[in-house]
Amino acid sequence: MAEVIVVEDGTEGGALVAGAIRDLISAKPDAVLGLATGSTPLPVYRALARSLAADPLDVSRVRGFALDEYVGLPAGHPESYRSVITRDVVEPLGLDPAHVAVPDGTLATLETAGPEYERAITAAGGVDIQILGIGRTGHLGFNEPGSSFGSLTRVKTLTAKTRADNARFFDSPADVPMHCITQGLGTILRARHLVLLAFGAAKAHAVAAAVEGPITASQPGSAIQLHPHVSVIVDKAAAAELANLDYYMYAWANKHDWQGI
Ligand code: F6R
Repeated sequence: MAEVIVVEDGTEGGALVAGAIRDLISAKPDAVLGLATGSTPLPVYRALARSLAADPLDVSRVRGFALDEYVGLPAGHPESYRSVITRDVVEPLGLDPAHVAVPDGTLATLETAGPEYERAITAAGGVDIQILGIGRTGHLGFNEPGSSFGSLTRVKTLTAKTRADNARFFDSPADVPMHCITQGLGTILRARHLVLLAFGAAKAHAVAAAVEGPITASQPGSAIQLHPHVSVIVDKAAAAELANLDYYMYAWANKHDWQGI
């Protein structure tokens, strides 16, 4: 079962996850981080950047793999996930840009980009900790409903709902790309620790479906139930539809400190 941790807000959740990443890097200086984009993980990256500024740690060997990328955006587009990862993760954390990969959404090389990305993750020894957000459609990465639990990095078509949700980052909804290249659910499930964050009432249904719903490709988030080590960090609003919420809170309150997340 996923461990569900209810926090006050993104700031508290971000600090908790940043602490876990810091511990990982201390124990394994060449740790491999799985990086989500979007709004949800920003408090994690900000808390980690603050922690590294206050108490530096050698991050020169840390590697990173982004979950996904839009297809067909011009190189350097500010909303390409390559740009977002550079701006929100690589620069504030002081990572070596050469050690951080993002799937390649360039049209000309799209056919081979997925298998190449899989090879790179495997060559790095796999992802140690995978940061995840969840879409209102239940997507993890950009694995929209119907995605196979065995899927690997490949091109997908974004749903109209996801394109509408992400329109806030673009000048107009029509500018949101139709296609993306995303790690598959099978790729994500190979990471050693999944950390799924969700804040706000709009995510409550997707969170409940992921944590407690039937395991079904119609709710890609439910793939987390197949993984042995999952931490779900939610605020009260995102936790609102969880049937076993009392138990999760009681289990967290009574957990031994040494267990971490
Ligand atoms: C981003 C990603 C998506 C987002 C999800 C939630 O790399 O893969 O699954 O995590 O769309 O987005 P936000 O956090 O903006 O609500």
